[in-house]
Amino acid sequence: MYRLTFLFRSCFLFFATLQTVAGFSQKKTIDQKIDSVLKLMTLDEKVGQMNQYSGPWAHTGPITEQGDFLQQVKGGKLGSLLNINGVQHTRELQQIAMQSRLKIPLLFGQDVIHGYRTTFPIPLAEAASWDLQAIELSARIAATEAAASGIHWTFAPMVDIARDPRWGRVMEGAGEDTYLGSQIAGARVRGFQGKGLGNIDAVMACAKHFAAYGAAIGGRDYNSVDMSERTLWEFYLPPFKAAADAGAATFMNSFNDLNGIPATANSYLQKDILKGKWKFKGFIVSDWGSVGEMVKHGYVKNNYEAALAAVLAGNDMDMESRAYRNHLAQLVKENKVPVAVVNEAVKRILKKKFELGLFDDPYKFSNAQREQQELNNPEHKKIARDISKKSIVLLKNENNLLPLSKNIKTIAVIGPLAKSKMEMLGFWSTGWPDSNYIVSQYEGLQNKLGTGAKLLYARGCGIEDSSRNGFDEAIAIAQQADVVIISVGEKRDMSGEAKSRSNIHLPGVQEELIKAIYSTGKPVVVLISAGRPLIFNWTADHVQSILYTWWLGDEAGNAIADVLFGDYNPSGKLPMTFPLTEGQLPIYYNHFNTGRPAENDRDRFYRSAYIDLSIHPKFPFGYGLSYTNFKYDNLKLSSATIKDGKTIDVSFTLTNTGKYSGEEVVQLYLRDEVASVVRPVKELKDFRKVFLQPGESKQVTFIINKEKLSFYNQKLQWITEPGKFDLMIGSSSDDIRLKQSFELNGN
Ligand code: GLC
Repeated sequence: MYRLTFLFRSCFLFFATLQTVAGFSQKKTIDQKIDSVLKLMTLDEKVGQMNQYSGPWAHTGPITEQGDFLQQVKGGKLGSLLNINGVQHTRELQQIAMQSRLKIPLLFGQDVIHGYRTTFPIPLAEAASWDLQAIELSARIAATEAAASGIHWTFAPMVDIARDPRWGRVMEGAGEDTYLGSQIAGARVRGFQGKGLGNIDAVMACAKHFAAYGAAIGGRDYNSVDMSERTLWEFYLPPFKAAADAGAATFMNSFNDLNGIPATANSYLQKDILKGKWKFKGFIVSDWGSVGEMVKHGYVKNNYEAALAAVLAGNDMDMESRAYRNHLAQLVKENKVPVAVVNEAVKRILKKKFELGLFDDPYKFSNAQREQQELNNPEHKKIARDISKKSIVLLKNENNLLPLSKNIKTIAVIGPLAKSKMEMLGFWSTGWPDSNYIVSQYEGLQNKLGTGAKLLYARGCGIEDSSRNGFDEAIAIAQQADVVIISVGEKRDMSGEAKSRSNIHLPGVQEELIKAIYSTGKPVVVLISAGRPLIFNWTADHVQSILYTWWLGDEAGNAIADVLFGDYNPSGKLPMTFPLTEGQLPIYYNHFNTGRPAENDRDRFYRSAYIDLSIHPKFPFGYGLSYTNFKYDNLKLSSATIKDGKTIDVSFTLTNTGKYSGEEVVQLYLRDEVASVVRPVKELKDFRKVFLQPGESKQVTFIINKEKLSFYNQKLQWITEPGKFDLMIGSSSDDIRLKQSFELNGN
């Protein structure tokens, strides 16, 4: 008997020890680690994690108050800082954070919108490339450089659908189309986050501005947004869903009120949709001061109520308004905010810090040597040049003036942007002091032609002043030249945040300068650099060749020269409609037909038309020319009918019938002819960017599946309905080359 007891006891002790050892050595999950930190935190420390302040070095919004944020950091009362540049600064601040009681590392955020050290084309320009791989790579390089410079988090991609070019922030997004915008949103999130948080070259993405900020009434920034829920779901939410599906670590809500509720306190958006229906596990940060701005909205009486409204609606972190810092702990103590709400927000924030690896090594991103290497990597400039040239849109090329011969003798380079450097960067570059990093358009020509051609230069006029004093000099050099290149457009602070323009014509007297040069009779190429669609009808109607060059960043000059001289055949397509005049706005291609559609510009008698203006844009969505031509034929559908849940294969032959190799963005549009809610006259549902040598043909295929036929009905159900669909394949939304219909049958 005794022996049996001893044996049993030994076995028990053995397994008990085994379990204990296993228990300790078993790696704690991140959630277990978060819980163990949370248990140690005071209420003040928890609230601290829900605050983000801007560093004193730069501001990207109205300055509230500085106070001594270093004390907040030292006291473990701050979760994140933004606008802190470089490993030196971030290391210093992280060292201060490590003096706090719990040593919770700081998050460093920055608006790395289109490049960090290497400035890439603005996002609207990259959208014009329709090259998802190139766009993802651009974000990848931006993340690599930012992460090497101590940054953990970029406030990008901006995925706001925008149909009104008066709104200056169109430059930050992907334009007017939901499908293209969704594809690009996913590409950018994947680019920023790379192989996943925790990798040394990955930064957290931040899908913004949630939601519908781009629909500001009148194109006036921060203005109200009012739309049906169906419009919200159909056109404005999908890019955010695409970002969430791609794993975006964070979201940022928006300044605007949406249907009367400020987005920052909009629980329908943040809790019902994002954290509820979409099961988003990251955290939401407010936009600069937007928590406190709800007082101005007239939604709350004071910051105490603002903090209450925002935190209960799902806003996890307060950027810059200090409403959370000043009132959240009190709200919890008064039982107005359950501590569980604070715990949930803090857990979401801590989870990202664990996933980034900051608890294991707070200085992981603060390596001066890596910063030096990555911020001076010549490969990055090559990549920037590649996507820059792919973003350029050829709007006109009469008599094939372009590409220019490299043997050309004399070129007159005229215009206020021809030698400009900083203007090539756009509104959201990260502001490096030295401009020698940037290749101006003039330098791009010099690099391309060397001493082979004589370059004459005259500024001609300013960007926005009214002086014509420079015209004579410009005319004089034009008369000496074989060809004239005129470089016009916007200043980099004419598009961007809080840069709405009621008049989006070429600013100043730039178009008069073009007219004056045109009158010399010399062949003229116009380059237009801007952050938005502009209006330049006279130029478009008279000048031989026009390239829309957006703001292309560091490699602007080289990329433009590549296109001007045919080393790259332009392939860009407009991601936004270009209006004839502001009076048409908002104007976009995927509009409804109405009950009285105007068949043409003469058809105005009791028609949905203007009596004094065409209803057609100057340049439509998806438009862009090439130095070569493409033929579309042999359209084939695998079936003329499709059963719900099945697919149809669509194929056609694309042929390069010109003498230059080039890429064509073939666009697939669908129209649901009859449905329980009216449907757009056409909707982009797929596209391919196809490279062809001269004379080469390729078969292009698409698959029509249920997703492409679905829409939100009146009850906001994502459904399909039986009926006839028109399939259109074209080179732009209004250059349809192939058409066929098919029938969706019921079950
Ligand atoms: C700005 C912008 C937002 C940006 C943030 C931080 O006001 O609206 O896009 O990320 O503040 O700079």
